[in-house]
Amino acid sequence: MAEELLIATGNKEEKYQQLLPQIKALLEGEKNLIANLANIAAALKQQFDFLWVGFYLIEDNELVLGPFQGPIACTRIQKGKGVCGTCWEKNEPIIVPDVEIFPGHIACSSQSKSEIVLPLYQKNKIIGVLDVDSDLYNSFDATDAKFLRDIIALLD
Ligand code: SME
Repeated sequence: MAEELLIATGNKEEKYQQLLPQIKALLEGEKNLIANLANIAAALKQQFDFLWVGFYLIEDNELVLGPFQGPIACTRIQKGKGVCGTCWEKNEPIIVPDVEIFPGHIACSSQSKSEIVLPLYQKNKIIGVLDVDSDLYNSFDATDAKFLRDIIALLD
């Protein structure tokens, strides 16, 4: 495993392109899911300085807070509730340009303005979600969706 993450400059795509192989290297040889989720959250936080980046994992038919970087967050989310619970229920990525206009959005932090949530899979089965929050409106687009999906697909 690399000792240090190299922080890329350039546009968003260039940053993700340089981050992806580093995360791949970080996960190589480590089988523990929690350890790998923790390092993915840390690497994304270091590269992009997102307000909040982390995982919720399905346990007893609800989402339970997993490894994350950022301010404290709600610990449990029901299926179909908030952006995370909706992503889980629909089993598809959700981009929210303005959290105030997403019906049922769960505000863990009043600083959060936009959000992207993607399903997390292991062996083709959904096991949780990746949630990324920004303190700016309209932070996430198809580029984030593509690269974040590629990053968490490294775990599949
Ligand atoms: N906003 C999320 C809740 C999780 S926090 O943002 C960390 C939601 O609506 O599901």
